[in-house]
Amino acid sequence: MAIDPEVISAIEAAVAADPGNSALRIHLGGLLLDAGRPPDALIQAEAVLLDAPDDIGALGLAAEAGMLLDDARAPGWARLHASLTAASTAKVDEGPTPVSGGQTAGDTPVAAAPEAGDQTQDDWDRLLKEVLADAGYPEAITLADVGGLMEVKERLERSFLAPMRNPELRRAYGAQMRGGLLLWGPPGCGKTFLARAVAGELGARFATVGLHQVLDMWLGNSEKQLHELFEMARRSTPCVLFFDELDAIGHSRMDLGRSAARNVVAQLLVELDGVENSNEGIFVIGATNQPWDVDPALRRPGRFDRTMLVLPPDAAARAAILRSNLRERPLGDVDFDLLSGASEGMSGADLRLVCQEAAELGLAEAIASSVVQPITTAQLLEAMKSVRPSTGPWFESARNHVRYANTSGEYDELATYLRQRRGR
Ligand SMILES: Nc1ncnc2c1ncn2[C@@H]1O[C@H](COP(=O)(O)OP(=O)(O)OP(=O)(O)O)[C@@H](O)[C@H]1O
Ligand SMILES: [Mg+2]
Repeated sequence: MAIDPEVISAIEAAVAADPGNSALRIHLGGLLLDAGRPPDALIQAEAVLLDAPDDIGALGLAAEAGMLLDDARAPGWARLHASLTAASTAKVDEGPTPVSGGQTAGDTPVAAAPEAGDQTQDDWDRLLKEVLADAGYPEAITLADVGGLMEVKERLERSFLAPMRNPELRRAYGAQMRGGLLLWGPPGCGKTFLARAVAGELGARFATVGLHQVLDMWLGNSEKQLHELFEMARRSTPCVLFFDELDAIGHSRMDLGRSAARNVVAQLLVELDGVENSNEGIFVIGATNQPWDVDPALRRPGRFDRTMLVLPPDAAARAAILRSNLRERPLGDVDFDLLSGASEGMSGADLRLVCQEAAELGLAEAIASSVVQPITTAQLLEAMKSVRPSTGPWFESARNHVRYANTSGEYDELATYLRQRRGR
């Protein structure tokens, strides 16, 4: 499984803030191991073993990392790990046995999830804050910051934000606010950005749940953790819970070998349906590049039932995105019309890259001439040459799904867009 370096950095930061949290260190070690970094994994294991030489999780981690590194101490760690594991399983015969980390092979519980009793509510809340809080966006953004996508913004306002802001009226009309929103479309076109903007509009907390990255760490315990996640959201409404890469859990569910992941989906369905618990004030937003891979059970009414296609920015939106990305940089008399015409097919993320590259060109000239000069249209055009529109491959593969899997018309909007695109 690919390990997201950002997740590792987030957990590293959490460990730095709480160096005594051995469960967190062992998680980090497991991820580092999966990311092909056994030396760093061993450092985490040793840090735990220093204080608790008989920590089973740390011993397992040290043994596995040590084997990979040919460390002479590894066999000793492995033996101790095996005997302590045998002793503890002999003792504990009540309750479910925690499943070891899904991504690690063999029976060594390397990235073993902390057992239910180990994890206090405070620990979990802290971990949630540190790991799930999206650190990438220091300031709140609103829909005004999202360039273009007028139709999506209007639908969001009408079907989501307005009812959310007016709970009394909503009740009077018996409008159901259950269920979630599924944003889908090519990469880099603003799904995550829009979800953040929804949180900003509502003054809501925003928690990103990358299911593969975050929940896999808790396999065996993850149904409970998922429930806790929703409980935390219920305690701190308004709250946007953002499930990124929703297709990833759908996949896991299909893969019958991974029954723990299947249970996660089942639990997610329970939480979304919110039979016992009120989901009032919780905004559930999912995002995917691959709606065709999202588990159909997740798409049923009351779940991720409202879908919105987030397409690449049109010309006006591209100009707006360029403007907003250049806002804080020295800027001359730039021809935005020309630039938006020249950036056809680019995503918001591509345009951001263009601005960064142009700024680098400007900086290089400023250093050479020792004078700060505004960024020019020419530099932006130059930068555009080095950035390839990244949405092409996505549309290529989407075309097949539209052609062969659009049985219920769910991809009609994309089909229309593809026809227009070809006509251009
Ligand atoms: N419509 C837009 N308006 C303003 N900025 C945008 C827009 N679309 C994308 N961006 C910029 O591009 C960046 C990447 O967009 P974002 O992360 O939201 O894409 P995404 O659709 O979630 O992609 P992925 O599928 O890869 O997760 C944003 O952080 C933002 O800076
Ligand atoms: Mg995204």
